Amino acid sequence: MSFNVSADAYGRFMGQYSEPLAVQFIEYAGVRAGQRAVDVGCGPGALTAQLVDRLEAEAVAAIDPSAPFVEAARERFPGVDVRSGDAEDLPFADDDFDVALAQLVVHFMTDPVAGLREMGRVTRPGGIVAACVWDHSGDGGPLSTFWRAVRETDPQAGDESGLPGSREGHLAELFAAAGLKDIDDSVLTVTVPFATFDDWWEPYTLGVGPAGDHVAKLGDAAREDLQAACARLLPAAPFEVAASAWTVRGRVTA
Ligand SMILES: C[S@@+](CC[C@H](N)C(=O)[O-])C[C@H]1O[C@@H](n2cnc3c(N)ncnc32)[C@H](O)[C@@H]1O
Repeated sequence: MSFNVSADAYGRFMGQYSEPLAVQFIEYAGVRAGQRAVDVGCGPGALTAQLVDRLEAEAVAAIDPSAPFVEAARERFPGVDVRSGDAEDLPFADDDFDVALAQLVVHFMTDPVAGLREMGRVTRPGGIVAACVWDHSGDGGPLSTFWRAVRETDPQAGDESGLPGSREGHLAELFAAAGLKDIDDSVLTVTVPFATFDDWWEPYTLGVGPAGDHVAKLGDAAREDLQAACARLLPAAPFEVAASAWTVRGRVTA
């Protein structure tokens, strides 16, 4: 799966959903002025932007393994400590933050429990770890129509439904396995408007994430079949896509 893409391509594909999600997510996590926070798997900075608004840049750290995203985040957020690296091996000291957040990242971690445990390690006792993952396993994620069309046109193709945290209750199970306490399991939903079918389809052709990888590997005929299947499944334009994310917070204990 590829996140070796430009921040602009990411923004047009996933940023349109993750930016409004970040507004709800920091509320859910209870982030407030005076705290220090780390954005794990920050991408180009949908959530980092919200954290900087609320906490000031010097109180925010961010980390991502994607070189173009790290570069974009460094440029966009002077004063934020933006690192290159993985959740599973965070380059921060124990108890460094009041809150550690991972928006739409746990399902991409090689070892989600290790990643969440690391987020707990860098968070002070009493602090909060929170994460969210799209409902890829039900019908509620932003890419549901796309993956339904893929299954119709190419039943052998894989999708994102089996990724960790994508089914109801699984993200909370991962939090428990990582040793987090007082676990709260919730759902956040954003609604994104599309004026035309092309506005919806074009971002899938930018090579971002598993969906973009899938489209990039198709020949012309298969891509046109998939595009037509998507057009059949979507309502007539203009339309809205509602996207829901399983969202969990847990407390770090001493
Ligand atoms: C869907 S994007 C989410 C980006 C951003 N948090 C947002 O909400 O827009 C997933 C991000 O997870 C990053 N990622 C993948 N594996 C990771 C890992 N093991 N640890 C931390 N981040 C990871 C990717 O590079 C990518 O930026």
